[in-house]
Amino acid sequence: MDTVVQKVIDNVVAAAERHDATKADRLDRWRVLEPDAGRFLWFLTQAVGARSIIEVGTSRGVSTLWLADAARGTGGHVLSIDLDTAAQQDARRNVVEAGLADRVTFRVEDGGSALAGLPDGSVDLLFLDAERTEYPSWWPHPARVLRVGGVLVADNALSHPAEIAPLRDLIEQDGRLTTTTIGVGKGELLALRR
Ligand SMILES: C[S@@+](CC[C@H](N)C(=O)[O-])C[C@H]1O[C@@H](n2cnc3c(N)ncnc32)[C@H](O)[C@@H]1O
Repeated sequence: MDTVVQKVIDNVVAAAERHDATKADRLDRWRVLEPDAGRFLWFLTQAVGARSIIEVGTSRGVSTLWLADAARGTGGHVLSIDLDTAAQQDARRNVVEAGLADRVTFRVEDGGSALAGLPDGSVDLLFLDAERTEYPSWWPHPARVLRVGGVLVADNALSHPAEIAPLRDLIEQDGRLTTTTIGVGKGELLALRR
């Protein structure tokens, strides 16, 4: 892990803690990824050798930074999608400060429509960290876009199991995918495309 990137991540996580503590409404909070879940994403990206990396839910770019640093090791690239233009501007500043601008493309778009526009089997690693209740309406694109050997990761599998359950059901009904749940951060639901 690059020390400059790690310092930027630490600073954004600390700023997010201060910011989120002042916001009563969940949707006003930045809700950035926990450090252990970020480290797990970094590890997984490198283990998969992921080059085509998609994330839905940029916020201030904490998960983007973990993924982009790992992408430097795989020769990969991150497409980060969010509906919030201002949040992505902050994330872009953080990615530039970390020296990772060449590894990330930001796009303001709905996650479902962005996934619907991607070719079959074109994604090595897909990270879903947006509104969990919307994921089922995006089906089958989260599975369709994965290459064989590609991995889908959905955050909040343990913090909000009821909200993740419909996605888990769709994944488990799809004979091409195998799931597991990892107890880092708020819990990561993983699906491997076989
Ligand atoms: C939990 S935050 C993402 C945190 C980020 N991954 C990080 O580690 O810093 C959720 C983000 O999802 C975005 N979002 C919500 N619904 C979305 C949708 N339908 N498409 C794309 N982004 C969406 C929100 O604007 C918000 O910035």
